[in-house]
Amino acid sequence: MRLPIIDRDPARLAARHEAAVLWASRPALFALLRAAPLAGPVRRVPRLGWVVTDPVLARAVLNDPGHFTLLGEGGVGHLWAQVLGDYVHRIFDGPGHADLRRRARDLFTDATARPLVARVFAPALEPAVDRLRAGGEVDVADLSRLLVGRMTAELLGLDPPDGGDRAFRELFATGERLARLALGSAASTALPPDVVAEAKAIIGELTRNVPRAFAQAPAGTLLGRCRELGLSEQEASGLSALLLVAGTETAATAMTRTLALLHDTGQQHRLVADPELLPAAVREGLRVTTPAPVIGRGVSRDVAVGPARMRAGERVLVLTYAANNRAGGFDLDRPYAPESRQLWFGAGRHLCLGAALARAELAHLVTGLLAAGPVRIVGRSAARGVLIPSYASLRVVTSSPRPRSSSASAGSPAPCGPR
Ligand code: HEM
Repeated sequence: MRLPIIDRDPARLAARHEAAVLWASRPALFALLRAAPLAGPVRRVPRLGWVVTDPVLARAVLNDPGHFTLLGEGGVGHLWAQVLGDYVHRIFDGPGHADLRRRARDLFTDATARPLVARVFAPALEPAVDRLRAGGEVDVADLSRLLVGRMTAELLGLDPPDGGDRAFRELFATGERLARLALGSAASTALPPDVVAEAKAIIGELTRNVPRAFAQAPAGTLLGRCRELGLSEQEASGLSALLLVAGTETAATAMTRTLALLHDTGQQHRLVADPELLPAAVREGLRVTTPAPVIGRGVSRDVAVGPARMRAGERVLVLTYAANNRAGGFDLDRPYAPESRQLWFGAGRHLCLGAALARAELAHLVTGLLAAGPVRIVGRSAARGVLIPSYASLRVVTSSPRPRSSSASAGSPAPCGPR
């Protein structure tokens, strides 16, 4: 039987719950994230390669495409090339990638993401908020998966599934299954043939509508915009698969864990009283949870990073979670940290393409739920053996429900800029 986590100090309580989520996901990841910073800013670890925990050195690696690649062993592009095909080499790095990023630059902006999220989330978020107002319970982990499943269907141009909410949850679970295939990649990103075959089958199924949607979708939709921006059908299909893996579990866990942090630290009361704190809540939630806790790269040419002399062919693990959390726990008063910037979204030419969308999703969930009043967590369990640390369930109620008002609706969060 697991004992409940109890601590009188809210900051320590929040940190202990976060630690429990990391531990449950993968004890080895938890141990690495805790132990590596003690060994210095950059260190070679047997079987893993170079491990970087310092935010400035982390950004130096991610900002240096001349010496690091994500296509070599250790990088996520290496995984994708085996599943999506050789064209990944052309569009995920080098001039082809720079060209794709230039054309895809405007796919998600803060201004386009907010109305998209409001429209796609409303059918599931509004009933959940009403349930809280009526004194009922909401599982925020399940709700986040459902909301992100809805967004995924929207982005992939999938027809609204017959099974309603259940089908959106299944879509999310399929994305999770795909990501889990990469679980064994900590020591090597070379995938066995059966894993490649399984991943290809999942992607084929999930992106089956992309060619039709790409040809027919109105310019206002994601695939329609890809077409208008001059992306080829193959590029749009690859990008769709990437969005599915990059933007599902990461976004859902940021949403759930940020709400838990706001509750555990007691800082939700300040946010409820002062909605201007929303950008700080989103930034701190992303920093502390760092949903993509590790970013891999291969060394393509010999290079010095701080005190480390790295050789071509070696691997680097950038521990973004450790780098971001060096500053301390969740704190709405913490100023923007220039040394880490938005390291939770990576850095350099592969900086998260969906950052604006992720911020809008997180802002919308938090604003929507807290519009019903401060929440009380009545039960939680961490997800075990998952790639992205998360809660399996986070059940909340509202202790003092607030009536629906036009200024505090689930559809109108304050803007959250890049910081
Ligand atoms: C809180 C949620 C999210 C986090 C923490 C996150 C984090 C990241 C990180 C760290 C990278 C860089 C990986 C690397 O350098 O190897 C990345 C890349 C990417 N993300 Fe996100 N992401 C999130 C949500 C999303 C969403 C919602 C989408 C789109 C639907 C998305 C799409 C992408 C894409 C397409 C890339 C690859 C960019 C490139 O290689 O040029 N992400 N993300």
